[in-house]
Amino acid sequence: MKLITVKNYDEMSQKASSFILDLIQSKENPVLGLATGSTPEGLYRYLIEAYKEGKASFQHVTTFNLDEYVGIERADANSYYSFMQENFFKHVDISPSQTFLPNGKAADLQAECEDYEQLISNASQIDIQVLGLGLNGHIGFNEPGTPFSIRTHVVDLEESTREANSRFFESIDEVPTQAITMGIGTIMESKMILLLVSGEQKAEALVRLFTNEVSEEFPASILQNHPNVVIIADEAASKHLSK
Ligand code: GLP
Repeated sequence: MKLITVKNYDEMSQKASSFILDLIQSKENPVLGLATGSTPEGLYRYLIEAYKEGKASFQHVTTFNLDEYVGIERADANSYYSFMQENFFKHVDISPSQTFLPNGKAADLQAECEDYEQLISNASQIDIQVLGLGLNGHIGFNEPGTPFSIRTHVVDLEESTREANSRFFESIDEVPTQAITMGIGTIMESKMILLLVSGEQKAEALVRLFTNEVSEEFPASILQNHPNVVIIADEAASKHLSK
């Protein structure tokens, strides 16, 4: 795992955008794995800016998002579908038919997971998978204890995760109890992983990422086994890492 330390959230976002822009400028049909949450918002702002300045086009880009809540409509402001429209897709020239997220309102959730896996494998391989880091080490919505080999699946969200995400909802009661997430097995097949970590509240989790043994109790620890991981962390998040 390669660690790049930057000053703050803005530098983290800009640095992350440079990896994505390099890819889409050099590859004909790039495939991106995307994340939601507060962490990648700045990255999306930089990508939109590059598009508006005529420095990048997303016309030939395909995207797969990591996860989606179960039980809320795509049109709901809290769906990850809406998050991606608002924070990225509607501002650039990406084709809607090339942006994929699991459907958390599918009648048959198991079939939805299998279809999502099929779509990813049809696209061959994710070139860069963007990841945030959950406070408990979750990646996507793969909570502690999730088998490393698992593919896209339905998860029961931990109370601590619902609590952390309740800031986007009116109250914690409105936070869904389940989600569909790309599995760790799926994530690990990406060519490159770009893990973004910002803020003091992630500092403990970042230490664990480097010091934990590879264990399902801390899902992100599996990244130690991936051949091409770049972690971009700001000063606040990396404050407990020994220099
Ligand atoms: C959420 C998402 C993850 C995200 C993580 C961190 O629950 N499912 O994909 O990376 O938790 O979120 P944030 O970036 O808001 O801290």
